[in-house]
Amino acid sequence: MPDNLKVSTAPTILLTGASGYVGGRLIKLLEQQPIQLRCLARNPEKLRPLVKDSTEVVRGDVLEAQSLDEALKGVSTAYYLVHLMSGSHDFEKQDREAAVNFAQASKRAGVQRIIYLGGLGDDSDPALSPHLRSRHEVGEILKDSGVETIEFRAGMVIGAGSLSYQLMKSLTDRLPVMLCPRWLATPTQPIAVDDVLEYLIAALDLPKGENRIFEIGSPDVVTYADLIREYARQQGLRRWLIFVPVLTPYLSGLW
Ligand SMILES: NC(=O)c1ccc[n+]([C@@H]2O[C@H](COP(=O)([O-])OP(=O)(O)OC[C@H]3O[C@@H](n4cnc5c(N)ncnc54)[C@H](OP(=O)(O)O)[C@@H]3O)[C@@H](O)[C@H]2O)c1
Repeated sequence: MPDNLKVSTAPTILLTGASGYVGGRLIKLLEQQPIQLRCLARNPEKLRPLVKDSTEVVRGDVLEAQSLDEALKGVSTAYYLVHLMSGSHDFEKQDREAAVNFAQASKRAGVQRIIYLGGLGDDSDPALSPHLRSRHEVGEILKDSGVETIEFRAGMVIGAGSLSYQLMKSLTDRLPVMLCPRWLATPTQPIAVDDVLEYLIAALDLPKGENRIFEIGSPDVVTYADLIREYARQQGLRRWLIFVPVLTPYLSGLW
């Protein structure tokens, strides 16, 4: 049969957050899988040169519900690797809205599985950061959609270019003295980006089942403050961390 008459039976996988740190690295691995890859991006023209010709790039914004229907058409598994934190003052509200849009559109499109990378943290910990609380809420919204959802909860992803790693690095490089909010004393288990990518790929082959949460991280339990101190030690920097019970809204915003 001529190639142009062959009907592809490869499942279509949608990758959101494809222009981001984790998503950008996942593209290369997904392009080696026996799948048809479709990437969703707010600026497709920027992403196009970074992917193979066989990879589809579609325009979409998780805050624009109608843009998701076309992107999710025929999709069997959808990766949700989006967060709106960097561009938004009210990230909790926007992340909630985005997750509701994505969950509902996935259900409408008949998506069979959502794979979501969220944050590692204990909901019962009063010092849990607003960011982690919001990441967990997004996981709940996706699960409530009725589409089987695999949620990975990761601590700081270590690797050059990772937002949380870069934040820790630039703060430590610049500030000899830091007034620290309580959540910096929260224990976490950082993970290397390559390990995260392996988990995300493995999730494609998990047997069908219930919603699942996998907490992923290295065996080392450290606080965010420990990570700052260790980074400073390796860079030969002297840094003072002063914990304060309450930060002014202005200082909290800076963190
Ligand atoms: N990096 C870490 O240390 C870490 C740790 C634990 C968990 N995670 C989780 O891993 C996931 C990915 O993180 P990341 O570090 O790769 O993030 P990132 O580099 O900041 O990328 C975020 C992605 O979200 C996209 N996005 C933002 N707003 C959007 C919108 N309205 N519509 C569509 N796409 C939008 C961005 O696209 P644009 O290019 O258009 O802005 C970008 O591709 C997140 O769920 C995060 O919570 C990350």
